Amino acid sequence: MKTPLLSVSMLSANFGNLERDVICINQSPADWFHLDIMDGLFVPNISYGFPVVEAIAKLAQKPLDAHLMIVDPDRYISRFQACGAQYVSVHYEACTHLHRTLQHIRKSNMKAGVAINPHTPVALLTDVLEEADFVLVMSVNPGFAAQQFIPQTYTKIVQLKEMILKKQFSCLIEVDGGVNFSNAKTLVDAGVDILVAGNAIFNAPNPAVAITSLKSTAHTESL
Ligand code: DX5
Ligand code: ZN
Repeated sequence: MKTPLLSVSMLSANFGNLERDVICINQSPADWFHLDIMDGLFVPNISYGFPVVEAIAKLAQKPLDAHLMIVDPDRYISRFQACGAQYVSVHYEACTHLHRTLQHIRKSNMKAGVAINPHTPVALLTDVLEEADFVLVMSVNPGFAAQQFIPQTYTKIVQLKEMILKKQFSCLIEVDGGVNFSNAKTLVDAGVDILVAGNAIFNAPNPAVAITSLKSTAHTESL
């Protein structure tokens, strides 16, 4: 039996009523707050920065999962640590010295994640998997909420799971982008440990109900 963790992406929250949405997550069975940080360079969009992260951190009663879609993320690792983030992922495509960056995150007492874009094969992670606490597999091209899930992701998850099991690593698999009620269970069956969802939660008629049902939909007996 396996129930995945659910990390709710605040990108689709109502920023005019952020406190209400943070409290909603606090009171729900969701597990983490997923914070999408975009710099307008690595991705063609700018999301939000430290004032918003700090506002969420102040109210959040669950771990913060910061997804850095930014160039040269090393510059900001200590700032995320100061905000109380527990999970920080950086992009394979944005880090010249990825191995060092992951060590930097771990030395800063946070869990280190590598995020990969849809075009990046999981095989490229062979030499850094040992330094990663989790891999974030992008199932859309990063930059925007509410995009359509890319089906090729299933194969990548299966391949990545095999790599992790073969080496007996304890690295977790997170999937991010277009996760919804129709693909969640298949993703968990393929090997996903952490589902990220924004649009499927905040654009549902009742986000709290959507969180509960997404978690039970994704629950699987097979693992
Ligand atoms: C996309 C972000 C995602 C995204 C998830 O660049 O990394 O976290 O907001 O969003 P949905 O669930 O809306 O596809
Ligand atoms: Zn994300």
